Amino acid sequence: MNITGKLALKMLARGIRNKFEEKPLSVSFEITHYCTANCWHCNWGGPVKDERRLQAEDYARICDELRPVVSHISGGEPLARSDVVDITRAMANPGDLPWMVLVSNAASLTVEKYHKLREAGINQFSISLDFPDDRHSEFRRIPGLFDKMSRVLPEIIRLGNNDLSLNVCITAWNYRDLAGMVDLAKRWGTKINFSVYTPLRIRDENGLPDKAKLEEVRDAFQQVIDMKKAGYPVYSSERVLWKYFQFLTDRGIPGCQAGSRFLVINPDGILIPCAMVWAKYETQREMLERFTRNNICEGCYISTRANTEKRFGDFLADNWEVLLGQVFSRKGKFVKEPDEAPAVGTGEVEEPVPEGGPVPAQ
Ligand SMILES: C[S@@+](CC[C@H](N)C(=O)[O-])C[C@H]1O[C@@H](n2cnc3c(N)ncnc32)[C@H](O)[C@@H]1O
Ligand code: SF4
Repeated sequence: MNITGKLALKMLARGIRNKFEEKPLSVSFEITHYCTANCWHCNWGGPVKDERRLQAEDYARICDELRPVVSHISGGEPLARSDVVDITRAMANPGDLPWMVLVSNAASLTVEKYHKLREAGINQFSISLDFPDDRHSEFRRIPGLFDKMSRVLPEIIRLGNNDLSLNVCITAWNYRDLAGMVDLAKRWGTKINFSVYTPLRIRDENGLPDKAKLEEVRDAFQQVIDMKKAGYPVYSSERVLWKYFQFLTDRGIPGCQAGSRFLVINPDGILIPCAMVWAKYETQREMLERFTRNNICEGCYISTRANTEKRFGDFLADNWEVLLGQVFSRKGKFVKEPDEAPAVGTGEVEEPVPEGGPVPAQ
């Protein structure tokens, strides 16, 4: 993550302020529910009939009102909207917050489109990955997708902007391939972030590893953690990875703060607490009062939840190296401003600065 010390401090300050004012740390703008893929684990896929969509300036107005630390442009597939660059430009404040993350399946990502989106204000490209080989194309039901990603992503990564990372949803289908995906991230020269499957999207428990396989799953998690300790580019902290394992074991994690720490904007501008719960609200205040205060759902523990619900101590423990690297140079000096600054810190996609500070997708 290419971020200046000044911006890291702004993230921290806005995160703390938003926590006290019950404003979200992270808002996901699902600008279309149409999708170019049709993944096994997802409720979206293909066209959506009569979708009502807002225009760029409408999303920008909502973004200004909610004032999140991090804004995700997501979907469905956000690159399927021809005005995605205009939407980005309207929402972004280059050099300032919100930290802008594009969450994409990369099927239509090109180096040219990357440059346009980056110039318009995308800070982080979070690209979904489910397998370290062509099974990814099969899972996403886009023939040739993995080959295409293998050509385009390394080309973007080689530009050296340190703004692209892979985003893996851990499922019953891919837990044996986690180490292979970490290895792929290293070969491509980028970072990898993990999230965990929720059955809520498609009402399918088959995406959760069978209880009899949990020892095998634990070994797969341990292998990722060992690789992280050995210097492989894993963004997710050890603590968060074990919480994912706990979710798979207990089939739930209580204390969800959807609506307060994070929320989702539908293509038509309606607010929903998360992509899995279709309780619709006009304002965040209404959502807090009518949903969040009474919410007892524990059916997901996706990366956004894991990273925005961190306690301050856990946040510091997970990020202190990155924060120190971002705020101070090696010699203990404040880092310089963008045009003269070297890329500092490592950070990640979907969570630049969580819980009162730096947060990245889902
Ligand atoms: C819904 S997609 C939208 C953005 C884009 N189309 C993509 O695939 O990256 C956002 C993320 O949600 C993840 N996802 C989809 N279904 C999920 C599920 N059942 N549980 C957890 N994450 C899921 C995807 O893997 C993806 O990383
Ligand atoms: S996970 Fe993303 S790419 Fe796959 S169907 Fe859902 S929205 Fe589309």
